[in-house]
Amino acid sequence: DGGDAAKGEQVFKQCMTCHRIGPEAKNAVGPVLTGVVGRPTGTYPGFSYSDLNKHAGEAGLVWTDDNIFEYLADPSAFLKKYLTGKGKADQATGSTKMVFKLANEQQRKDVIAYLKTFSEK
Ligand code: HEM
Repeated sequence: DGGDAAKGEQVFKQCMTCHRIGPEAKNAVGPVLTGVVGRPTGTYPGFSYSDLNKHAGEAGLVWTDDNIFEYLADPSAFLKKYLTGKGKADQATGSTKMVFKLANEQQRKDVIAYLKTFSEK
């Protein structure tokens, strides 16, 4: 998908304010991202997610490289759009706890390539 995992490791330093990744990773301000590609949204054990994030997972959202690409540009907007598309506009309120956006497309591709090195899919 045009992502460079080595460059993505550098981009991930911004994510490390809140997230950890790898076999020993623990939840922090954000949930562990080990294995996130292929995982239903809002399901990492022991992390207290926002209703918006949890509801998206309950409605069927599973993280893929394509939807993480869209999510990173505007997490709350993406999850609200997903829930609205699933006929759950009543749940498309509030905001996610992830107060971070990554506008740069190439950086998003690279960081997703990096996330995939810790995921089975
Ligand atoms: C959630 C990725 C930066 C805080 C998530 C999720 C992903 C993600 C994929 C959903 C996880 C799940 O459903 O299990 C990233 C990436 C980042 C980044 C790739 C860097 C490019 C940050 C930063 C913060 C943050 C800098 C803190 C300022 C959170 C929090 C959640 C979250 C609190 C849970 C959201 C909720 O419950 O609503 N992140 N994140 N993230 N992230 Fe990030």
